[in-house]
Amino acid sequence: LNNGLALTPQMGWNSWNFFGCNINEEVIRETADALISTGLADLGYNYVNIDDCWSSLRRNQKGELEPDPKTFPSGIKALADYVHEKSLKLGIYSDAGVFTCQVRPGSLYHENDDAELFASWGVDYLKYDNCFNLGIKPEERYPPMRDALNSTGHTIFYSLCEWGVDDPALWAGKVGNSWRTTDDITDSWESMTAIADLNDKWASYAGPGGWNDPDMLEVGNGGMTHMEYRGHFSIWALMKAPLLIGCDVRNMTAETFEILSNEEVIAVNQDPLGVQGRKVSVGGKNGCSQVWAGPLSGNRLVVALWNRCSEAVTITAKWETLGLDSTTCVSIRDLWKHETLQENVAGTYGAQVDAHDCKIYIFSPTSSLSCTCKRQTRTCQ
Ligand code: GLA
Repeated sequence: LNNGLALTPQMGWNSWNFFGCNINEEVIRETADALISTGLADLGYNYVNIDDCWSSLRRNQKGELEPDPKTFPSGIKALADYVHEKSLKLGIYSDAGVFTCQVRPGSLYHENDDAELFASWGVDYLKYDNCFNLGIKPEERYPPMRDALNSTGHTIFYSLCEWGVDDPALWAGKVGNSWRTTDDITDSWESMTAIADLNDKWASYAGPGGWNDPDMLEVGNGGMTHMEYRGHFSIWALMKAPLLIGCDVRNMTAETFEILSNEEVIAVNQDPLGVQGRKVSVGGKNGCSQVWAGPLSGNRLVVALWNRCSEAVTITAKWETLGLDSTTCVSIRDLWKHETLQENVAGTYGAQVDAHDCKIYIFSPTSSLSCTCKRQTRTCQ
């Protein structure tokens, strides 16, 4: 959507994956505080997004949406002011149907009034869900809210949450700043890997202004191992997915923080070229030994060796599958080790990867003559 936003994928936090309906204004304020105090905000996580269950069960007598007086007694405007003072942005949630998924009032046929209300509160971001949609196609229900947000005169990020219904990549580029390509993620290896594969299919439709959304991060919620979460974060970054933290940032372990705060992986996600990386080759049993890669600015490449097998394997990236000429020499930087491993490599690069681990590298072309001269050897100085 050409509204000046989403030049790179959105980053921030959303309440749903960890808190579900168990939210209140304290949690939102404390989360904003924690994004600042941990330094995550400085790394780019600037949206604080309230998901479902912020509103009362019914509209008020004027027909307006109203925050639940028990859990959000100070109202949404006060929260927006609170996060804005910290240079953060506030996101809210509604639904392109008659109810939200947790049966709060939806915005279908109230688009203009609700958009005006959100804008008057100072809301910066709307996640727009797909429950209770009366069987009307998303292509028809999502544009009216885009137009309503646009008419408010405020610039509001528009995140479509239509669960991949009717292949949104094909039509949502003109409607939203991101669109969900799949059903909801759960905090498991099976769900995360299946969602990565589904999202991969739509890679060519993503770009500055509009991104494929394979759903929010589960990193730190406990259902996967550290290595699995590292893969989840690496692949989401490479796929130019929104990086919306879904854990309780007030109580993160050091391991969780290490993943979410990896500046080199974040830089892959936020690279100005804005091209979604893809699965470029598979090997092993059921294709479990995988190479994912994509172009970055400055003629660089991001390359991930993702071991989805149940034992350690050596995964090799071949230059032809990366779209590189076989004589091209690259230096290889490991984004989890934070080390440049080799200065001049040509042809192939392989590494042993533990079961369910993921290595992620940046390949930068070098103009080394000696490498080109000795291109028959794999590593040349
Ligand atoms: C749907 C969405 C989720 C979340 C819940 C809230 O399932 O896909 O991301 O917003 O609704 O009810």
